[in-house]
Amino acid sequence: MTRYVIVGAGAVGVSLAVELGDRGHDVLLVARGATLKYLAAQPLSYHSHAGHREIRLPAVALDADLGLRTGDIVVLAVKSQDLPTVAPALAWRDVTDEQGTVRGIAANLVPVVTVQNGLDAERTTARWFDTVLGAVFLISAQHTRTGEVRVGGHPYVGGALAGIASTLTPEFAEQALKTFTTDLHDANFLIKQVTDIHSYKAAKIVHSVRNGVEVLAGDRKTKDAVGQALSAEARFVLTAAGFDPADTAALILDPAQGHFSERSGVTAGRQSTWQSFARGTPTNEVDYLNGEISLLARLHGIPAPLNTRLQQLLGRATHAGGGLDLPGIDTLAELLAVEQD
Ligand SMILES: NC(=O)c1ccc[n+]([C@@H]2O[C@H](COP(=O)([O-])OP(=O)(O)OC[C@H]3O[C@@H](n4cnc5c(N)ncnc54)[C@H](OP(=O)(O)O)[C@@H]3O)[C@@H](O)[C@H]2O)c1
Repeated sequence: MTRYVIVGAGAVGVSLAVELGDRGHDVLLVARGATLKYLAAQPLSYHSHAGHREIRLPAVALDADLGLRTGDIVVLAVKSQDLPTVAPALAWRDVTDEQGTVRGIAANLVPVVTVQNGLDAERTTARWFDTVLGAVFLISAQHTRTGEVRVGGHPYVGGALAGIASTLTPEFAEQALKTFTTDLHDANFLIKQVTDIHSYKAAKIVHSVRNGVEVLAGDRKTKDAVGQALSAEARFVLTAAGFDPADTAALILDPAQGHFSERSGVTAGRQSTWQSFARGTPTNEVDYLNGEISLLARLHGIPAPLNTRLQQLLGRATHAGGGLDLPGIDTLAELLAVEQD
């Protein structure tokens, strides 16, 4: 069975580690800081539809010997801003075969899966790795306390669309993609192989640019209106910049995909960016979500006032220490009113 080296012991990384581990896969988590210390000392608390379990998960630091072998699949489950640190730290490692003979380096021999929202992960990772499999993850996974992960999906753990983002060795990439999607399917994920993963990543960012609104104080109606306008602006900029975002409806693989179990304790909304603010992390992914739209807008000379304003609001808030229920929805609503005039 394929061994999975999962870098990032957060919401997505732990969910994959537990669910693949339950199906008999050898999994190794790469963690850091408080999470690494926690996992070394005690089991992790995993809450899902199946109930609450305390699970021991093997975890090491990024600079540890990962014993990379041919046949391993590496999943990068850190946030986009951490990829430029993580990818080169893995790329030049030796990879051995079953006999322990060094066959080459990870950059050439290990397929890497990128689960990040946004558009940057596949390009960043391809700077170091020959074969990158992009995945759009559709999962309600929450990590707001060290040592605790909640996954809400039921009857499916979650969904994923996966495809080859880039490769120099198409047959090897096809085989790795087949293995990854089969293993996820067996681990109770809804899964779809796609040929144009970049188009689905573009569709996902149209949705993800709304995530930052969750950390702002404000009434639901205003937040919904701002969220819809952020998405519309993102789609406009992406299309003008030459991307071809799939319809967001194409991200729904099954009517039951969005259902989740109350037993997991997962709270609706509270997506990855909200969780970063709730945990008070010093960095978050906003610069790769709304910031990606700002970047494309600047490169193509198209204004993207709403996404840029939200990026700036949340960037300044992070700089000032973060938090939740932050001020600023009014300034976004004002922009919306100007756009609608
Ligand atoms: N959560 C979801 O439901 C969901 C759904 C779809 C897609 N995604 C995407 O999946 C990606 C991961 O999101 P997430 O919610 O799982 O994030 P997360 O809970 O913050 O997990 C990321 C983990 O990576 C760790 N990490 C970062 N740099 C590292 C390094 N150098 N060495 C070892 N560990 C490192 C972080 O450590 P620290 O705790 O020390 O920061 C954190 O524990 C994001 O790009 C997100 O957009 C998430």
